[in-house]
Amino acid sequence: MKNKSTLIIANWKSHKTKSEVEAWLEVYEKQFDNQEMSNYLTKKTVVICPPMPDLMLVFNKLLDWKKRKPFFLGVQDVSQFPAGKYTGAVSTLNLEGFEVRYAIVGHSERRRHFAETHQDVANKVIQCIEAGITPVVCVDDEYITQQATAIDQKYSSKCVVAYEELGAIGTGKSEPLDHVTTVFSQIKKSFGDVPVLYGGSVNEKNVSSYIEVCDGVLVGTASLDANIFSELVKMA
Ligand code: PGA
Repeated sequence: MKNKSTLIIANWKSHKTKSEVEAWLEVYEKQFDNQEMSNYLTKKTVVICPPMPDLMLVFNKLLDWKKRKPFFLGVQDVSQFPAGKYTGAVSTLNLEGFEVRYAIVGHSERRRHFAETHQDVANKVIQCIEAGITPVVCVDDEYITQQATAIDQKYSSKCVVAYEELGAIGTGKSEPLDHVTTVFSQIKKSFGDVPVLYGGSVNEKNVSSYIEVCDGVLVGTASLDANIFSELVKMA
């Protein structure tokens, strides 16, 4: 299925102190010598989505690494509004200058705990695309069509879609491949021929089987430990 680069997105959620982020970066750097890193970077696109307060720290580390960049920077959410009077929100304007390439939008945890609607997610998609950031729209199989319908077609074709099975997130119970494949075809029918990721208890042991059937993975728990995550990247 693959001519395109495999996309591996790490979502750290609201874990990690500043010093834990620094330690993660140090360990991750050591995992890849130049040759190995340049080999895998030709085939894989790795994106780290840290908590917002750590964005600058990770960005500065990427600047230190200069051309030897082992990953791109992403965010876990973005405001559905443009810059303005929205206390506490992070607009795409605030992200300018940090070379943010991807933004996760509509994660099930945002939908559940912050009451985000399909329309909120659609508005976030517009904010991202207008700022040159690729939105990673999370869906579960219950509402793929409704979410796709809320997004104007001129924007949905520019999205990455991540299918996340609710019962698989953070539980260690990953979803059977045949179900994943069925949901992927529903996503392609609704969103068009966009890259589709799987997320939900992906780890270094099962990642290769998901990569066989999709364009990449969204990884929570297994991205928190730099050793485990680098193993996952090698296995993907
Ligand atoms: P998990 O999280 O890998 O811990 O299941 C995935 C996600 O919620 O993005």
